[in-house]
Amino acid sequence: MAFHLSRAIPLLALCIGLSGCEREVSFANDVQPIFRDHCVECHSQVGEGVAASGFSVNDYDSIMGGTKFGPVVVPGNSISSALYMVVAGKTAPEIQMPPHHQQSLAAERGDALSEENIEVIQLWIDQGALNN
Ligand code: HEC
Repeated sequence: MAFHLSRAIPLLALCIGLSGCEREVSFANDVQPIFRDHCVECHSQVGEGVAASGFSVNDYDSIMGGTKFGPVVVPGNSISSALYMVVAGKTAPEIQMPPHHQQSLAAERGDALSEENIEVIQLWIDQGALNN
């Protein structure tokens, strides 16, 4: 008989309920490389992203320092974190990051992050946005 999906569902539910099933994300090994590959060209020192928003991805402290308007990371709460919302495409198109919409200041100069990278950033924030 063919493998039946209903058998797999209780297992999956169990896994979601246990925090141990989620892998632990490392800032240095998982998160920083995403910023280095996709954000640093605009969000470092005199980049246009820094000029426009004050947000720099140079290091952990500058990321936690946020923009000139305040923090973009709320440790433990990705949904309240502007950093997550702009990369996950959950904001107005003009501030989605990297900019890939005609409406944005740096129009169509990047590609949206992969689902996997978006998830890494979400997990990192939800696990407390540690400098690990
Ligand atoms: C091509 C240049 C460019 C790239 C690449 C880029 N940004 Fe930006 N970013 C900008 C500009 C310009 C702004 C100013 C806001 C705007 O467009 O209105 C900005 C603003 C921001 C803000 C502040 C949003 C707000 O208004 O609250 C955050 C957070 C941000 N970027 C994160 C990122 C992240 C994370 C990446 C990489 C995944 C990234 N950016 C990649 C140019 C860039």
